[in-house]
Amino acid sequence: MKFSRSVPALLLALGCSGVFAQAYPSRPVTLVVPFAAGGPTDVVARSLGQAMTKSLGQSVVIENKLGAGGTLAANAVAKAAPDGYTVLIHHNGMATAPSLYRKLPFNPLTDFEYVSQVVDVPMTLLGKKDLPPNNLAELIVYVRANADKLNLAHAGLGAVSHLCGMVFRQAVGVELQTVPYQGTAPALNALLGGQVDLLCDQTTQTIPHIKAGTVKLYGVTTSSRIAALPQVATLDEQGLKGFQVVVWHGIYVPKGTPAPVIEKLQGAVRAALKDPGFMQRMTDLGAEIVPDAKLTSDGLRSWLQAEVDRYGPMIRKAGAYAD
Ligand code: MLT
Repeated sequence: MKFSRSVPALLLALGCSGVFAQAYPSRPVTLVVPFAAGGPTDVVARSLGQAMTKSLGQSVVIENKLGAGGTLAANAVAKAAPDGYTVLIHHNGMATAPSLYRKLPFNPLTDFEYVSQVVDVPMTLLGKKDLPPNNLAELIVYVRANADKLNLAHAGLGAVSHLCGMVFRQAVGVELQTVPYQGTAPALNALLGGQVDLLCDQTTQTIPHIKAGTVKLYGVTTSSRIAALPQVATLDEQGLKGFQVVVWHGIYVPKGTPAPVIEKLQGAVRAALKDPGFMQRMTDLGAEIVPDAKLTSDGLRSWLQAEVDRYGPMIRKAGAYAD
């Protein structure tokens, strides 16, 4: 895919947006995923894209654009033609980026139009299968005693696996060596292969491995237990009071995308979230479909603003800058 100004963009610039929007979409729409194929964001994007295809009448093609904790993908979409054919799905990383990356080449709060939120996804704290501790209490003792020997995988600064790992390290009061990957699909493979010891990752990827018993599970990161793993205690209830990391997802298009195009995309997202196949897949993977109030431009824009404000002080306090 080329992130360049195309003929439709020229039509928009010439004031033909109404006519263009009526015909939209007349070709496949690209949904840009900022992390590796097969990982949690990719899983949500592919299921969503498949469901959106039904009401858009055009394919939704996934493009995985990796690197810099999701900021390369977000920057590319910010600079793409505002014609509705280049769409971004991103998570909390959109809100942490302005604090983590002090030289960010785009502004999440001004360079986009805001389509909708999609699903919220819990995370799970995992160890490699033969890690000795069998529960969170044992894990805390173990990491404090072996901090210099253990490592923690994540998907780069700006990834939720990094954020969750940072919250865990702060809660336990240890520094661990961290190992970055371009998504938690390769990070989880490294955990399964025993090359890394710990990983905090989303249920949309981890549930099949938890059920297969190929990883050690120490808890979920939500404030209460989740329906997909009812027997699994939260980190909070096991003693890490206030530990809560939930992954939210937003759909964005470049600034200047015409309102009728945004409305078509919103309609397709709404229809997808009510699609029985999509709903079942998300339920099986622990994801929760967001309420209607979050399916609006204003809903996403104000949520993003609140999250930027929430994470800023945390990141500045930790001094966890990417540059
Ligand atoms: C992924 O899809 O790889 C993840 O969302 C990365 C992360 O943020 O941890």
